[in-house]
Amino acid sequence: MPVSYKTLGLQNTRKMFQDAMAGKYAIPAYNFNNLEQLQAIVLGCIDSRSPVILQVSKGAREYANATLLRCMAMGAVEITKEAGVEIPIALHLDHGDSYELCVSCIETGFSSVMIDGSHLPFEENMELTRRVVEYAHKHDVTVEGELGVLAGIEDEVSHAVSHYTKPEEVETFVKNTGVDSLAISIGTSHGAFKFKPNEPIPPLRFDILEEIERRIPGFPIVLHGASSVMPEYVDMINHYGGDLIGAVGVPEEQLRRAAASAVCKINIDSDGRLAFTAKIREALIKDPKNFDPRKYLAKAREALRSVIVHKNENVLGSANRI
Ligand code: G3H
Ligand code: 13P
Ligand code: ZN
Repeated sequence: MPVSYKTLGLQNTRKMFQDAMAGKYAIPAYNFNNLEQLQAIVLGCIDSRSPVILQVSKGAREYANATLLRCMAMGAVEITKEAGVEIPIALHLDHGDSYELCVSCIETGFSSVMIDGSHLPFEENMELTRRVVEYAHKHDVTVEGELGVLAGIEDEVSHAVSHYTKPEEVETFVKNTGVDSLAISIGTSHGAFKFKPNEPIPPLRFDILEEIERRIPGFPIVLHGASSVMPEYVDMINHYGGDLIGAVGVPEEQLRRAAASAVCKINIDSDGRLAFTAKIREALIKDPKNFDPRKYLAKAREALRSVIVHKNENVLGSANRI
């Protein structure tokens, strides 16, 4: 029996992006896989009065169980009501890799899906995206497509090199597919190792972004791979026995500039993973006799909550926008 996101109190991304475009900020899209990450994201967004897109990758859905994740997203809506701060919440499939996966998510409560055909030839990407949009729009679910390839290695996303988005392709893609937003490649990448350590960080290609904005004015753009790889947490991980030497991310000022442009959605996963892992490492080393997971997970959750507030207030500009 299909479940509509509307019965769960979730929203699609259409109005969120209209508001973000008009207000010159970006909606945060944070990935989650478990209870503590979800608590931190939702509480951090309540604290900062920010709308939020809760992102679930294919790997996260397999890890945590699709039904459980949907019920958790519904629970997130309920706790905003209890807190008296009803922030808009979308449940979004991150990097959907097939029509069937997108349909399954739409049938089980997602309000937004990404179909990532960026690795396919242009015509095939366009056709796959168009089919997903056709199905999704019948259910009032919004769709994100992608043009251009980001480098980086994650469970479900793996490309050795990046290819910038070709601005001359965006008008045809958007017109022929009917997508609601478009992820582009302008120099960000997935994971914690985005640039070479001890070398100047190459600026994002704002010239490409501007040319895209010129060709599809007012159309919502999405930036993936937008973690800053916060040095305090990388240092903490390395200090407490980890090995993330040379991890580097996108400087915050570059993201602030992007958020004020047509970029309406900024994806952050790695920074959350880093803060969470750093605090667990620290807590286990500092209290070697503890074997109660709540004690170290509460520390990780607290750190992630403060990362969320920081990003919303100081990077994306989404705080106090409800
Ligand atoms: O861009 C990908 C996200 O960070 C999700 O990663 O596939 O390891 O869950 P994942
Ligand atoms: P980061 O690895 O930079 O956090 O990017 C996450 C992302 O793009 C999820 O789709
Ligand atoms: Zn991504």
